[in-house]
Amino acid sequence: MSNKSSKISGFYKLPIEKRVEFVKDFANLSDEEAKLFSSCLDIETADHMIENVLGTFELPLGVAVNFLINGKDYLIPMAIEETSVVAAASNAAKIARIQGGFKTESSESLMIGQIQLLRIDDVVDAAEKIISYKQKLLNLANDQDKILTNLGGGAKDLEVRILDTPIGKMIVVHIIVNVLDAMGANAVNTMCEALAPMIEEITGGKTRLRIISNLADRRIVKARAVFDKDKMGGEHVVDTFLESYTLAAIDPYRAATHNKGIMNGIDALIIATGNDFRAIEAGAHAYAARNGNYTSLSKYYKDKNGNLVGEIELPMAVGIIGGAANIHPKARLCRKILGVKTARELAEVAAALGLAQNFAAVFALSTVGIQKGHMSLHAKNIAVMAGAIGDQIDIVADRLVKEGKIKLDRAKEILEELK
Ligand code: MEV
Repeated sequence: MSNKSSKISGFYKLPIEKRVEFVKDFANLSDEEAKLFSSCLDIETADHMIENVLGTFELPLGVAVNFLINGKDYLIPMAIEETSVVAAASNAAKIARIQGGFKTESSESLMIGQIQLLRIDDVVDAAEKIISYKQKLLNLANDQDKILTNLGGGAKDLEVRILDTPIGKMIVVHIIVNVLDAMGANAVNTMCEALAPMIEEITGGKTRLRIISNLADRRIVKARAVFDKDKMGGEHVVDTFLESYTLAAIDPYRAATHNKGIMNGIDALIIATGNDFRAIEAGAHAYAARNGNYTSLSKYYKDKNGNLVGEIELPMAVGIIGGAANIHPKARLCRKILGVKTARELAEVAAALGLAQNFAAVFALSTVGIQKGHMSLHAKNIAVMAGAIGDQIDIVADRLVKEGKIKLDRAKEILEELK
C-alpha cells in the first residue's frame, strides 16, 4: 500500500513522462510496469479473449488525483474517451479533501442467480417443496465451486418468488451467492445450471432461464463526502447546487443525465480495471428505478455549517480476480496503482469516484455551465481533426477558444495561416 499523497496541483500541466514518474513513484511500479502505459494489448492475448479478433481498440488512460477515501490516498486510473471527465473528478476530490475526503462502506459481495421454473400446476406447493430442499440445493450449488466455498464464499441462501405473468404463474428461484473477490457471473451461472435439474425433479416443472441478475441489490456500496462551501464559492452556490439537484431527484429526464455523469467516472474505472461495465450500468440504472420511479443515484443536502453533503448508493459487481481483470496487463497495472486488496475496496473507490464525478458535473452546471470546461480539450480535438500536429495543436486550440468558435473549418483556416 502506498503511503504517499495523491494530492497534486497542476498534474495535467506536466509532460507525460513526468506524470508517469509520479504514478510510478506513488504505486512503486517497476520500470517494466511503467513501460506498459505506452504498450498495447498484444494480439495473441486479445485473440484468446474474444472471437473474430482483428486487432485491439485503444482508449486514453488517465489518472484522477487528489482522492482521499477512508483516510487512504488513491490515484484512480480512468480509461475514457470524453474530455474533462478526469480533470473534473480530480477537482471534486480536491474539494472533498478539505472536509476529510470520502467515507465509504459496502455490503458483502452477494450476487443473485435466477432459475425460472414453468409449467407448474400448483405454484404454492412447488414453492414449499423447493424450500424444503433448500439445504440440499445449497449443497449442490456449493459443490460446483470448492475454491470459492473453501475461501468462505459460496451459495448462502435460497429464496422462492411466485410471479403472476401474462403467460400464467411461474416460480423464480433466487440463490444468493457470496462471490468474494470475483465479479461472480461465472460462479453463479454455473450454480444456476447445476440446480435446474434438481428443481425440475423436486417440482415436476420445467426450468428455463438460469442466469445471474445484474440488479445486484445485495452488493451495495455507499460513499459520502462533504464539499466545502467556501471552496465552492459560498453558501449561495451550495443553494444553487441543491436547486439543480432537485430536478434529478424528481424528474427521470434529468435523472438519466445526472446518473450518466456518475457513470462517466465509474465506467472509466471499471474499464481500466478490466471489469464488466455493462453489468455495472445495468445494475445502476435498475437500482435507480427500484421504487418504481427512475431517480438520482446520489443525494445532496446542506449540513449545519452550510457545507454540501453528497451521498451515493448503488450496486457494484466488480471483481479483482477472474476474467479480463487478470488477463489484461493494463488492468493488472491499474489495480496495482489503485492498491486495492479486495473487490469491496475497488467497489468503494468506484462509488467515491462516481460521487466526485457527479458533484463536479452538477457544480459546473450550477455555475459556469459545462461547456467552459470542455472547451479547451474539445478545441484540441478539433485542431487534431483539422490536421494539426505537435505544437500546432495548442496554437490552433488556443486561437479557437479565444475566438469562442470551436469549428473544424475555422481550425483548418488557422492551420493554413500557420503554414
Ligand atoms: C456529460 O458526459 C455528463 C453530464 O451531462 C452530467 C450531468 O448533466 O450531470 C455533464
